[in-house]
Amino acid sequence: MRSISRRLIASYLTIGLFTLIILETLFIVAISQYYIGGMERALMNSAEKSAVFFSRSELHSLIQEDTTIYDKSKFIFENMDSEEKAMIEVIDLEGNVVIDSTGASSEEKIITPDYLAALNGESSSWRGRTDNGEAIMAVSTPIYNERNMTSDKKIIGVLRYQSSMEMVNKVLFQYIFFVVGIGIVVLTASAFLGYMMARQILIPIKELIRVTGEIALGNFKVTAVKYHNDEIGQLVDAFNLMAREITKSDQAKNEFISSISHELRTPLTSIKGWGETILEAVDDRETTEEGLNIICRETDRLIVLVNDLLDFSKLQAQRLELHKEEFNLDKLLYDIRNQFSIRAKQEKIKLLLEENDDHALVMADYNRLKQVLINVVDNAMKFTIGKTNAEIKIISQLLDDQVAVIVEDNGSGISVEDLTQVKEKFYKGTSKKSGTGLGLSIASEIIALHGGELLIDSIEGKGTKVVITLPLYYELMIEDDDYYADI
Ligand SMILES: Nc1ncnc2c1ncn2[C@@H]1O[C@H](COP(=O)(O)OP(=O)(O)OP(=O)(O)O)[C@@H](O)[C@H]1O
Ligand SMILES: [Mg+2]
Repeated sequence: MRSISRRLIASYLTIGLFTLIILETLFIVAISQYYIGGMERALMNSAEKSAVFFSRSELHSLIQEDTTIYDKSKFIFENMDSEEKAMIEVIDLEGNVVIDSTGASSEEKIITPDYLAALNGESSSWRGRTDNGEAIMAVSTPIYNERNMTSDKKIIGVLRYQSSMEMVNKVLFQYIFFVVGIGIVVLTASAFLGYMMARQILIPIKELIRVTGEIALGNFKVTAVKYHNDEIGQLVDAFNLMAREITKSDQAKNEFISSISHELRTPLTSIKGWGETILEAVDDRETTEEGLNIICRETDRLIVLVNDLLDFSKLQAQRLELHKEEFNLDKLLYDIRNQFSIRAKQEKIKLLLEENDDHALVMADYNRLKQVLINVVDNAMKFTIGKTNAEIKIISQLLDDQVAVIVEDNGSGISVEDLTQVKEKFYKGTSKKSGTGLGLSIASEIIALHGGELLIDSIEGKGTKVVITLPLYYELMIEDDDYYADI
């Protein structure tokens, strides 16, 4: 965890440091060149001007040809701008300072590179330190004897301007100090920024780690706090959604286990009870027969339940295979009507299969579609029993490239709140007639596997309409009056 903030701070510092080093070096080089170069140019200018002035033949002619360089130097100083800030030296060809502007001539010979270059006829500069450690810049330029310009122009000495660099260095040092100071401020700011960035990232991540830990311990009801609406915020949203889904499915699983246990126990208790009764009254044929009938019915119920559970687990694991074949949908609807007709009569429900001109061939799994319709019609019956004028209608209808099977009842209907959830697994309303709540979720998944849709529309107290759409394989054109009798 800490390494993220360390890494961020380190990268901010590295970027900052690189940028600063480059910018500050450029700046320092530029400013040094500006100051030192400026100083060098100024010294060079003065030195060359003075040297030319001295070398001019007319002036030269004012002094005797055989005068010493010392006498000539004196002449230089007498004719020089007295405000010159540099120390000016006149040096002979051996390196002896003949005279300097301070008046204190030293014994020491000059052998600095600038002097040596001037002896070769080049003006040049040199930076170094004096014996007492003072930083200086010196510029030397040759002095010619130009009296006889055409024939013997020769170097007779060197004019050397020397100036202290202390002031320039001080100014430069102030600049360097200033930019390095700015650099330190910038670096501190980037480190701080890196730290803040890391904090901004780390706080929500730590929150996610905390919540993940809670979920790992089995506490699914936690929610992570969303700090920002960024990618991590989206992650928090996704995480919270996942936590809610886990909570829901955990709840559904618990409800399922309790409802399945209940569903299993009821028929098993009945089977056991009747088994014992039969054992006690083996000779009583009537009781035995009644008991065995009930045992068979309850066993059937158990088989249906276990099959539902198997289907459900197959659907969950996406292992449910369809065995598609081409068949006449009307035939399936007839089978269903026949299967429910006795029960409908017993329950005093009018079960109608509406005959019309819409006939379709479908490419589907006959048994699976039958299972779907059994559930839908079974629901319609369960929730219509007891109503006056109870009626269930089964209708087929052709739509463009689809065929719809509609099962409509005028039973109890479904409340608006329940309607959105009835197709969810294990969802059953509050009615005592409800079974496991698996029926519609299995049905709608089977229809979806066929490329169709199962829609439910209902008004509480008035009735329910279930519409199942399937892809139309082929439309049948039938003009035979005995068509319905034939199938
Ligand atoms: N025709 C209907 N009229 C009123 N309520 C219905 C109708 N069909 C379904 N429902 C409601 O939807 C719930 C879910 O139906 P579903 O078929 O999934 O489960 P079930 O019938 O309760 O159990 P199972 O089908 O597994 O025996 C039902 O419990 C009931 O509350
Ligand atoms: Mg059902």
